[in-house]
This record gives sequence, structure tokens and C-alpha cells, in this order.
Amino acid sequence: MPKINRYIDIDTVEREAKKDYIDRHSPFIHCAKTAKVGEPFEVTVKMGNEYTHPDDFDHYIESVTLFDGETKLAGATYVSGTLGNTKAHNTTTFTIIPTGKKLNLVAHGYCTKHGVWESNPVEVEVTE
Ligand SMILES: [Fe+2]
Repeated sequence: MPKINRYIDIDTVEREAKKDYIDRHSPFIHCAKTAKVGEPFEVTVKMGNEYTHPDDFDHYIESVTLFDGETKLAGATYVSGTLGNTKAHNTTTFTIIPTGKKLNLVAHGYCTKHGVWESNPVEVEVTE
């Protein structure tokens, strides 16, 4: 299993020095703060907030996975060239239907050269 990189595991000095490298590999979760039980809910995972990642044949974002806590909800896989072999934000929108009282969303992004990167968790309140 590849090493999982997490933003909070990187010390402040290293974080500043490698700001662009860390940013372009980190998944960022974008969704509403609340969801309704039984209704479709869109969750977008964008790789990189400020910096874009390459889409080269030997270096690209191969997959994006969405979890609710420890449960895998969905995943998307890519091949090199999906994003036109240019630097871009890999962006995936998943539609899920929540059942519980809240979601603890976490996303992973996998770079073929730099391993798995984990997002900050995002809590979503689920109402009736
Ligand atoms: Fe990379």
C-alpha cells in the first residue's frame, strides 16, 4: 500500500517550502454544509486549491476516492490524457444519497508518482 500523505502531518517549515507541491496533490472537498436523508447530494473533489497538477503519461492523478469515515462511498479512475496532457485541477463530482445523521467526508487522491494524498475531513449534517 502506498504511503498516505496528510496535510497535518507536514511540519510548518516544510509546508511553506513545498507549498505548491503539497497544494497540487491535496484533494479539497466542496459541498453544502447540510444534506437531506434520501435525497441526492453532490460532493465535488478538486485536486489542488491554487496549484494545478500535470497530466503526463507517467505522472498524473489516477484516482479520486470518497469516504464517509471508514466506509468507501465512491471512486473515479482516470488515464493520462483525460485532462488533455496539460496542467489542470482534476475535478470529480460524486452524487451520493445520505442515510445517517451526519457524513464525515474524507477524500483521497492518487498521483502515479507521488502517492496517496488525504483531504481534510468535512462534516455534513444530515437532516430528515
Ligand atoms: Fe504528482
